[in-house]
Amino acid sequence: MKVVILLGAPGSGKGTVASRLAEQDSSLRHVSSGDLLRDAVKRQTPAGVEAEGYMKRGELVPDAIIAQMIGDLMAGITGECTLLLDGFPRTVAQAEILDGTISKCGAELKGAILLDVSDDIIVERIAGRRGCPKCGAGYHVTGLPPKVAGICDKCGTALVIRKDDNPETVQNRLAVYKAQTLPLIDFYRGRGQLSCIKGGIDPLEVIVAKAKQALA
Ligand code: AP5
Repeated sequence: MKVVILLGAPGSGKGTVASRLAEQDSSLRHVSSGDLLRDAVKRQTPAGVEAEGYMKRGELVPDAIIAQMIGDLMAGITGECTLLLDGFPRTVAQAEILDGTISKCGAELKGAILLDVSDDIIVERIAGRRGCPKCGAGYHVTGLPPKVAGICDKCGTALVIRKDDNPETVQNRLAVYKAQTLPLIDFYRGRGQLSCIKGGIDPLEVIVAKAKQALA
């Protein structure tokens, strides 16, 4: 198993780029820590119950909760694939835990890809984000709109706004990103494992193509 980390602020496009890459290459597997946690909250598992309050406030859940989820998932993977880790690690402590998990699984860290997007674009992207509660497809009301407003192209379900996409929580998520996740950029750059892509202005296809190049 190989592992590629997608780094970037909330709303920078990690999930969108990872899902496009995985659609184009069946050896890539998109794993979103936010989706794992939202699913645990929905099912009210012990981890989900503990994580819920942190997520509502836009804070990071404790490292141990998410590291355990990712560790369990990686331990259950058999056969060759490349994991696109979207949203994990998010702290240097999580990155160190991931190093341990990778060596325990006999996997290889290929590197980290940073989607670099300015704050004003991030705020606009999150304000317009819509998602399908059934199949998980993501849209933006103006940037990546569905064919019929408010309806998922893939399964016809009514699109929803994520609970933590309200303006106050978004500001907190951005502040948390700057305080706790930005140090990861130097962490991976220092190890010669960081590729940086401007993720704000180019069309999505161009950003996805650059990410594909970084994976090669
Ligand atoms: P998580 O779900 O990971 O949220 P996030 O990091 O805040 O990232 P987002 O999902 O908001 O953004 P994204 O970068 O995937 O952007 P997207 O592709 O959707 O985490 C949620 C919470 O869970 C955290 O706050 C925390 O509490 C907890 N958590 C998760 N992981 C954790 C961890 N490791 N440790 C501790 N806690 C953790 O794009 C955004 C919008 O822009 C969409 O509408 C999309 O359609 C649009 N868009 C994207 N790219 C383009 C483009 N090129 N052109 C036009 N529109 C675009």
